[in-house]
Amino acid sequence: MCGIIGIASKKLVTSNIIQSLKKLEYRGYDSAGIATIVNGEINEKKCAGRVENLEKMLFKSPSSGNLGIGHVRWATHGIPSHVNAHPHSSDEVSVVHNGIIENSNELKKNLEKKGYKFKSQTDTEVITFLLTDFLKDFDLVEAINKTLKTLNGSFALGILFKKYSNIVVGARRGSPLAVGYGPEENYLGSDSYALKSMTNKITYLEDGEVCLLTNNKIDFYNSKNKKINKEILTLSNDKHTAEKGDYKDFMSKEINEQNITAKACIKEYVDHLRKDINLYNFPINPLDINKIILIGCGTAYHSCVTAKYWFEELTNIPIDIDIASEFRYRKIKLNKKNLYIFVSQSGETADTFAALDLCKKNSVKTCSIVNVVESSIARSSDFVLPIHAGPEIGVASTKAFLGQMLVLYILAIKISEIRKEISKSDYEKKINDLKKLPDLIKNTLNYCQDNVPIIAKDFLKAKGAMFLGRGLSFPIALEGALKLKELSYLHAEGYPAGEMKHGPLALIEEGLPVVILAPKDRYFEKTISNMQEVIARGGKVILLTNEDNKVIRENVRFTLEIPVSNEHLTPFLMTIPLQFLAYHVASLKNCDIDKPRNLAKSVTVE
Ligand code: F6R
Repeated sequence: MCGIIGIASKKLVTSNIIQSLKKLEYRGYDSAGIATIVNGEINEKKCAGRVENLEKMLFKSPSSGNLGIGHVRWATHGIPSHVNAHPHSSDEVSVVHNGIIENSNELKKNLEKKGYKFKSQTDTEVITFLLTDFLKDFDLVEAINKTLKTLNGSFALGILFKKYSNIVVGARRGSPLAVGYGPEENYLGSDSYALKSMTNKITYLEDGEVCLLTNNKIDFYNSKNKKINKEILTLSNDKHTAEKGDYKDFMSKEINEQNITAKACIKEYVDHLRKDINLYNFPINPLDINKIILIGCGTAYHSCVTAKYWFEELTNIPIDIDIASEFRYRKIKLNKKNLYIFVSQSGETADTFAALDLCKKNSVKTCSIVNVVESSIARSSDFVLPIHAGPEIGVASTKAFLGQMLVLYILAIKISEIRKEISKSDYEKKINDLKKLPDLIKNTLNYCQDNVPIIAKDFLKAKGAMFLGRGLSFPIALEGALKLKELSYLHAEGYPAGEMKHGPLALIEEGLPVVILAPKDRYFEKTISNMQEVIARGGKVILLTNEDNKVIRENVRFTLEIPVSNEHLTPFLMTIPLQFLAYHVASLKNCDIDKPRNLAKSVTVE
């Protein structure tokens, strides 16, 4: 997490740095700062809170300079405060950092012995002083590489030097860093999204590489201080806009455009004329797959849980699902006949990337399902299946979840067809049903606009909430609970409905909101029995079921109805009311919808 920007220009850079930091705020928003070189001196301005605060500060006390670095922080070491905000500067050097320096305590002790005085509790300040120290004896690139070799952990860095006052330096290990080429100026950014408004010509630093930016050239070096060349890439011209438009926040925009997300994704993969799914150059012959392992974090993991049900129903391939932060450290026997699928909206999640890296090192087949096609995960996997959702800015994932599920579902159908585990007519029917999905989503969105806000009021005084479902509705219950907790800070649990009696039923008390996901599927009667058990104990039930479903509604506080569809498509529709619910509860509680506390969009630390 944390966002970094750097610009070396012929013009003043402060305003462009601020604009880019606003774009990067989804990565961290507890403090912000900027450093420029003014009259040969490092000029640092920083504050706790949002970029908005920094902007106000700069309005009162402007900062000039033709080159500079900026940062938005997601705290790891040290509380969010002015003193812990980046940049961290000495008289000679100013540093912004994304990542974690694992040996910072030890390094700090050594530097203190040498007389360096630390102001902050961050792990970053050691980098400032190490650079300051090495610069006494070495030239620029050598001093940087000596510093980097001293550091354990992960980092992307933006650095200014008083002595080299026309250069912005970038360096990375573990955390991503993009480098952009502009007209009479060059850039550094934590991701290409931050640079997109300024350039579409970029390259990415690889681990151990360093770049030196001036306003008219960029030099790259490897860890042995040798100059290297890098390929320049042209960024895809994103058809989807990253602006809020008339929406109050990005999240409501992103929820409400899910019919478009589905349409765009289906268009990329499904050929309705030939009644077929396009899947060229897949890295492993589906007939040879021994097992599929689906790996992700948070909401992306929930899409993996959903996909397990689809794959198991449509194919005979054994499926494992794993949380990336667990997968990467377990003693797992990786098998060359298995397919390892990594799901990540950002494509930069550190745990997911590390799990992928482990697979790469063991030469097993990998495929990634990502939204950001230029991301590290996409670039490192054998095969990429983009979800085509367009930029997702709200920290809570909504349309990307839908896109992840959709690609996984499409993949399950295609693999099943290749393996002849589904009949031709069933295959074509599933493709036909997919065509109807965007409209079903649109109808559900319209329905939720009118019917969910009133339900949200009921959650205001609640101590917590539960979400229960069976089969394909179980992962959606998990996702509903996650959305509610991250947005409204209300404790919420998602459970398989059948598991309640094994413990969680003890939580049910008079007035506790319990969302029951009971579409008309094979589990329906069983889920309704579980609902009765909740009602009998005083739970306030919100029933989510299908239209025209004649269920007993006695003692059910609210019923929400999603359209009837092919059973496999219900997760896409069931998710929507739960996203709306979390959104409205959070709005009523005046929470920051797009930037929930303590979170960040791109989780690039462990
Ligand atoms: C929740 C949410 C997170 C992410 C998780 C993985 O709304 O957004 O749980 O799903 O941090 O992120 P990606 O998909 O970028 O790997």
